[in-house]
Amino acid sequence: HRTAAVIPAAGRGVRLGPGAPKALRALGGTPMLIHAVRAMARSRAVSLVVVVAPPAEAAEVRLLLGEHALPERTELLVVPGGETRQESVRAGLDVLPPDITSVLIHDAARPLVPVDTVDSVVEAVRDGAPAVVPALPLADTVKEVEPGKPGEPEPVLGTPERARLRAVQTPQGFDLATLRQAHDAIAVDGEGATDDAGMVERLGVTVVVIPGHEEAFKVTRPLDLVLAEAVLARRRA
Ligand code: CTP
Ligand code: MG
Repeated sequence: HRTAAVIPAAGRGVRLGPGAPKALRALGGTPMLIHAVRAMARSRAVSLVVVVAPPAEAAEVRLLLGEHALPERTELLVVPGGETRQESVRAGLDVLPPDITSVLIHDAARPLVPVDTVDSVVEAVRDGAPAVVPALPLADTVKEVEPGKPGEPEPVLGTPERARLRAVQTPQGFDLATLRQAHDAIAVDGEGATDDAGMVERLGVTVVVIPGHEEAFKVTRPLDLVLAEAVLARRRA
């Protein structure tokens, strides 16, 4: 039984603003993607890391991985990504060797996830859960609205009970056969999902949530980069 990590890193990072693809932007002087690869490779359970690169930057990503120190035991593969995150994940799954039985899907945009969180996800999958998601309770109250035009007031439809809600993170861990089945099912019915576990839920397979970590937050907007730099500086102090 071997576990691989697939890192979707092919997004442009539109919400972060103009510049290089998000995964290639520097965090503490090192590309965000390198932090994410190290975060996966740090787990003893992960022996293969597949980076799904922006298609135009695949060669650059291969160079970067060669230039930065990574654990000796970690095997690395780079494949070009697709138009959507889902297609990028699929491209990563398609190159996994036959001895891989479980997989972690981890956003390059969550460069600072602690190894303990990664290990907890792997452990839950190895203990028999087909799909495992790290998540945290919400700080904000959430409203469901009737989406309107940008800038216009939107009618509230309801307020889900906050105590029952969780904000999900990555790495999400899966039995590989189950995740592949979910991707095949989506390819047939066409409906996309905003996370990998969401696709597995549609199969009717139980997904479980385990505690996530504050430092596994996603770098999405410029303020997230400020927070990421601060977290990194605190770790280095
Ligand atoms: N991703 C990907 N392929 C895509 C789109 C996204 O591999 N076609 C990856 C991103 O690189 C990122 C992760 O999926 O690591 C989470 O997506 P998100 O945070 O939305 O990143 P972007 O899509 O790059 O950002 P934005 O939506 O602001 O453009
Ligand atoms: Mg996106």
